[in-house]
Amino acid sequence: MIGRASCPPAIYWRSGGRSSSAPSGGPSGLPAGGRCITITILAPDPTPENIRELSTTARRWKAQGIRLTGKGENTGGYRAVFAGDVAFAAADGLRAHACCVLAAQDQLDLVRGLILFFLHSDGSKWEIPFATVDPDNQGGSLNRDPYRGIGTELLGAAVADMSTTACTRLELETLDGAAEEFWRRRGFHNTTEPLHMTCPEMRALAARLAHTETDDPLAGDVLLADAKASRRAFSLRV
Ligand SMILES: CC(C)(COP(=O)(O)OP(=O)(O)OC[C@H]1O[C@@H](n2cnc3c(N)ncnc32)[C@H](O)[C@@H]1OP(=O)(O)O)[C@@H](O)C(=O)NCCC(=O)NCCS
Repeated sequence: MIGRASCPPAIYWRSGGRSSSAPSGGPSGLPAGGRCITITILAPDPTPENIRELSTTARRWKAQGIRLTGKGENTGGYRAVFAGDVAFAAADGLRAHACCVLAAQDQLDLVRGLILFFLHSDGSKWEIPFATVDPDNQGGSLNRDPYRGIGTELLGAAVADMSTTACTRLELETLDGAAEEFWRRRGFHNTTEPLHMTCPEMRALAARLAHTETDDPLAGDVLLADAKASRRAFSLRV
């Protein structure tokens, strides 16, 4: 897909099946067997090609969900179908020239995740109606070797966009308990209202997740998404 790049590309490693809380092995401190993808977050242009790409992605993710459900993997199936719905909504949004869709795209131009957000018409608040990563890499998926960090990356790009466009509160409804935990751990909170964060909180999150440079493991940058401490200390995060 083509569009405005929202932040510099970031490289995500997977651990090669091992859980790794600290870099180990390999010349650059990367786990042996780890593999990487480069993720670019972009705001896709409303071109027919991009709309087609999102529709194809939607069908692929939905079919994956139906397959998983057929095998009795109901939770994974439900989340994959949800991912398909998100991709359909993204295609619709582009078709209607509606704001805002951000896509995580890998180096082969495959869509790896999507986040949708919009400003309410009275300007009072932002809302994230949909967010997902591809079914193979969703939290809690049966994939034992997922890429991690793509959802957080999308959120970082989205809050950066929102807080510079209109400084107002951000709300969302959660899909389920696991998703709620994901949002809470990134600073969303509530009492009786939907999960939300204030504009200063959005700005703080955007700063925390902002990129400084493109990481290059071959140049000695360390494992990113799997190692939170390293991510904070060395990687693309400020
Ligand atoms: C929620 C979602 C977008 C997060 O993106 P992600 O790339 O998986 O998340 P990241 O790798 O950036 O971050 C990993 C975090 O997700 C958490 N997580 C999210 N969903 C999870 C689940 N179902 N089971 C276990 N952990 C989950 C992990 O525990 C981890 O939390 P931590 O870093 O605070 O310890 C993604 O998991 C997803 O698409 N889930 C299904 C659809 C969904 O729930 N969308 C949100 C709608 S409100």
